[in-house]
Amino acid sequence: MRTSFEHLIWEVEGQVAVLTINRPEVLNALNADVLEELDEWSTQIHPKLEQSTNPIRCIILQGAGSKAFVAGADIKEFKGKTKVEAQAVSTRGQRIFGQIEQLPVPTVALVEGYALGGGAELAIACDFRLAAPNAIIGFPEVKLGLIPGFGGTVRLPRLIGYAKAMEWMTTAKTITAKQGVDVGIFNAILEQENENMLDLAKEWITPLCSMAPMAIKSVIFAMKSQQNMYSTQFFEKEASLFGTLFETHDFEEGVNAFLEKRNPGFQNK
Ligand code: COA
Repeated sequence: MRTSFEHLIWEVEGQVAVLTINRPEVLNALNADVLEELDEWSTQIHPKLEQSTNPIRCIILQGAGSKAFVAGADIKEFKGKTKVEAQAVSTRGQRIFGQIEQLPVPTVALVEGYALGGGAELAIACDFRLAAPNAIIGFPEVKLGLIPGFGGTVRLPRLIGYAKAMEWMTTAKTITAKQGVDVGIFNAILEQENENMLDLAKEWITPLCSMAPMAIKSVIFAMKSQQNMYSTQFFEKEASLFGTLFETHDFEEGVNAFLEKRNPGFQNK
């Protein structure tokens, strides 16, 4: 398996492995290269985790630096894409996040700072989410004239309920660590300020790592097979709507406004 990537850092220490998305200069935004590497990593690691000799009991996903987990898909790469290309981007992101969701050991998103858009979607494709005190999670795609395209419209309502998911995704509301724990999107807040959040996350998963690995794997399979039974069409619908929005004026305006650091002027066309 490839262990050296340009934008990913993969470290295994005993029973715990850590995957770091490493583009801190753009708040770890997911461009095509990062997605390519996530695809490769998740494809290659899966069979290794299946082996009975595999020592890894848990994988922590984090972003480099303390300002962001992942601030979304790379908005700069949205410009100039056709509807068909955009739909393909969405389908690909959905597939890669699906591969991560299907990994046979528990995955934990350690959210320090922003987990927005595609970053929030990556976090909710994991089994658990731990919030640093500065965590901010949300789905701001409508500000760009878009919708979540990497499975957010499917996974979020299952996780936090229909009404809250609808509210968050239509208002681009951002949620703090405390609010996120109350709603159930975060499992816990890693409270101690100035502590190393990764060390605290490793402490949090210690009980998990001491349980019977095959039993944990079976819980994961049992819960996820229920979810997968009815979701294919939902993902297809999301990708199709995501692509269609790329043909609108408001998408172009939303993306230009972000890049020019100004508020968008939407025209409903
Ligand atoms: N795609 C591409 N670049 C991004 C990005 C994204 N999703 N999020 C942040 N960046 C870049 C910024 O363009 C900026 O680059 P620059 O220095 O070349 O201008 C850099 O990361 C730092 O971000 P900046 O916006 O200056 O930081 P901030 O503290 O003022 O704001 C955020 C932080 C997260 C609130 C803001 O970056 C933001 O809204 N990002 C987009 C979030 C989003 O809509 N995600 C969903 C995408 S589908």
